[in-house]
This record gives sequence, structure tokens and C-alpha cells, in this order.
Amino acid sequence: MAEQLFFQSTDKLSRYAELRPQLEALIGSETDAVANMANFCAALQAAFGWFWIGFYIVREEQLVLGPFQGPIACTRIHFGKGVCGTAWAQQKSQLVPDVEAFPGHIACSSLSKSELVVPIFKDQQVWGVLDLDSKELGGFDLTDQEEIEKLMTWFAAFL
Ligand code: SME
Repeated sequence: MAEQLFFQSTDKLSRYAELRPQLEALIGSETDAVANMANFCAALQAAFGWFWIGFYIVREEQLVLGPFQGPIACTRIHFGKGVCGTAWAQQKSQLVPDVEAFPGHIACSSLSKSELVVPIFKDQQVWGVLDLDSKELGGFDLTDQEEIEKLMTWFAAFL
């Protein structure tokens, strides 16, 4: 496997385009979900350098922390709680330009200012969510939402 990933474009869409084949090479032949989630987070970190990138996985009535890149984080989130629990309950991505303005936002770190949470579907059910945090206000936009949703649709087959 490659020792590191390569990115040269500065515009966001091109960077997502550069990321996809490298992710396919990294993940496409591995069947272990934990290994794939771990490398998925590391690849997003290499591509975009966001503050926190990680998975929360549905375990009965809660989301439980999975592989991530970034500082330590809350381990359990209830259904409907916070941005992650809301994405699970509504089965819809949550694009939050300012976490202070999101009622019930769970602050794992006071450094996180904006967030994008995308649900991951397997067998028409929410299997878990991908949570992205930025130290900037408005760190994510609709382009990120659409591109990450596409990535998660592809990635769900490797979980
Ligand atoms: N802010 C999230 C909690 C998870 S951390 O950001 C890593 C939420 O409100 O669900």
C-alpha cells in the first residue's frame, strides 16, 4: 500500500476528486470495518486537516465512539441528542456553521466551532454517523455535505 497520500489541488472539489481513488486503493480490498474506518479518518485528515474526524456507531439506544482522528471525545451519545444524535434520529445530514447556535449541541471540545454530521446507512437503517468538526466558524458548506454523503454511500459497503 502507499506510504502516504498525495494532494496537490487547492480547490475543494478537486481535492475530493483526488481523495476518492486513493481511498479506493486503501480500503477497496480490506474487509475489516475497524481498519477501514481508521484509515478513512486518517485519509480525510491528510486531505483536509479538520480538527476532528470520527465515527459514532449505533449500539442499541446509543451512538458509541469509533475510530477517529483528533483529541479525545465523548464516548456515548443518546438517540436525538446533540448534532450526532439528531443526524441519527432525523436520518439526515446536519450542517452546523456555528455549534453555539445548535440547540443541545454536545461540546466534546470548546475548540470546535462548526460541524458536519452525515448518517451512514446499511440495510436502510442508520448504522452510524461520520462526525466532522472544524475550529473555524462555517468550516463546512453544502459542497462538503454533498461530497461526504457520496463518500459515505460508497464507504458503507466496507463496514
Ligand atoms: N458535537 C457532537 C459530539 C461529538 S464531538 O463533536 C466529537 C454532537 O453535538 O453530537
